[in-house]
Parts: sequence; C-alpha cells; structure tokens
Amino acid sequence: LPYLIAALVFGYLLGSIPFGLILTRAAGLGDVRKIGSGNIGATNVLRTGNKGLAALTLLLDALKGSAAVLLAGLYGPDQAVVAGLGAFLGHLFPVWLGFRGGKGVATYLGVLVAIAWQGALAFAVAWLGVALVTRYSSLAALVAAVAVPVVLYLLNFVQAAELFTLMSVIVFFKHRANIGRLLNGTETRIGAKG
Ligand code: G3P
Repeated sequence: LPYLIAALVFGYLLGSIPFGLILTRAAGLGDVRKIGSGNIGATNVLRTGNKGLAALTLLLDALKGSAAVLLAGLYGPDQAVVAGLGAFLGHLFPVWLGFRGGKGVATYLGVLVAIAWQGALAFAVAWLGVALVTRYSSLAALVAAVAVPVVLYLLNFVQAAELFTLMSVIVFFKHRANIGRLLNGTETRIGAKG
C-alpha cells in the first residue's frame, strides 16, 4: 500500500504541472485563464492564435500522463495504473492553482497511450473523426471518452476499462459548461477565437 500511495502522489505531482499556463505566460501571452473558455488546455491555448504553443501544450500535457505511468510502472502494474489516475487528477485539480485545473483530455490520452495503445487508437479515430466533421474540440473529446471504455471492454482489458470508465465520467463532469454550450449552439469551434 505505501507504494501505491507513493505512486498516486508521484502521478499527481507530475499531472499538476499546468503546461498551458506556463507556456503562454513564458511566451508573453498573458493568462490563458482570462481568454476563451478560461481553460488551461491546448484547445484554449489555440485561442491565443499560437498553434505551435497549442501543439506543445497538447504534447506536454499528454506526456506527463505517459511519464507517470511508465515511471511508476517500473515498480509494478498496479503502481502504473494508480500513477496514471494520479496524473489525470493532478491536471484537473492542481494544488498550485487552487485546485482549479484543466479538463484532462490530453492527460487522459497520455495515460491511455502508456496503458493500452489500442484504446489510444480508438481515442484518436473518434476524436479526429468528430473534430474534422464538427470542428468542436469538446464534442470530439466527449465522443472519444465514450468510445475508449467501450473498446477496452470489448478487448477484455477489464482493469483498463474500469480505470477509463471512471476517468471518462470525470471528463464529462468537467465538460458540463461545454455540454451546455453545445446544446444551445454557442460552443466555439476549433481555431476560432473565443
Ligand atoms: O480538451 C478540452 C476541450 O475538450 C475543451 O476545451 O477550452 O473549449 O473548454 P475548451
């Protein structure tokens, strides 16, 4: 048990690094929380108009999830899973930002790549398909968050399916403002300034 708690804390600390906020500040773009949706993720960094910085935010927010899983995984598979959950929760509830973090989509994907690449493939297909057709990042994430647990259950990856069901429920909860905007037609499309 001490190793599991250590893995959770380790994952949390990695996940709580708010790359979107750090990068936009370093680039002199001000506080990303004051523009668009107010979120610290890549979709909202893109609303600053800086595509490179948005891509880097996506990459680093995903990589911190993968890194947590792979490093904690050196101690065992349970540690890997717990560290992945920790990284996801760290991104969502970072102590450094008064527990007001991001929506977890990039970190979810990073954890998934490291735990079950087949699930990450399902994520990519669902996300890209919906994003290409609708240009809604949030809707793409929500559809991917449904597709991933379904595919993991179909593949009989039971532990991974349970983990990502939990994480998908949290992703939906974190997107409740987006869901409201999608329903009343005011959600911002990818690339448009918010
Ligand atoms: O990945 C986050 C995305 O699903 C929504 O971002 O900034 O439009 O709320 P945002």
